[in-house]
Amino acid sequence: MKGIVLVGFMGTGKTTVGRILSARLGWPLMDTDSLIVQSARKTIPQIFAEEGEASFRERETRELERLARPPVSARVVSTGGGIVLKPENWPLLRTLGRVVALQAEPKIILERVGAADDRPLLAGTPEEVQQRISALLAERQAAYSLADFSVDTSRLTPAQVADKILYPFA
Ligand code: S3P
Repeated sequence: MKGIVLVGFMGTGKTTVGRILSARLGWPLMDTDSLIVQSARKTIPQIFAEEGEASFRERETRELERLARPPVSARVVSTGGGIVLKPENWPLLRTLGRVVALQAEPKIILERVGAADDRPLLAGTPEEVQQRISALLAERQAAYSLADFSVDTSRLTPAQVADKILYPFA
């Protein structure tokens, strides 16, 4: 049986929703950011600062390749917001399961990501962060729309988002 793969912009709730799905289904949760941190033995800001974004993207593909190695079991896989950018990642994501894109309005994303300093792409003043969110969302929209289906999380709790994924026709 195939798993569920969560993609979507930073702050759309992939990690929180992934935890809920994992608990409800009894499937293990794999998080690509956590796998990268474990294998690199560095934080994500350190990887961006020391190796650059391109190296982080290569690390993402490597973790996906590892996860997609047979036998692929039913798992919940939550991913980093930029994993959709490399076309070569898509066959790997689809090997892992149904790909669900979590979406949210830019102002909700801004509220949710707040002043956290663990996302190197969203460093800066609130104005800079707001502009960066809009620019990255515009750049990535087409890639997120390749998912099998999307859930707008703007006005839903994480538990409600999990319900929409598990019972899409309810
Ligand atoms: C990124 C999202 C982050 C993390 C890295 C880059 C992105 O993950 O992979 O900071 O490019 O959108 P989350 O989406 O879990 O915050």
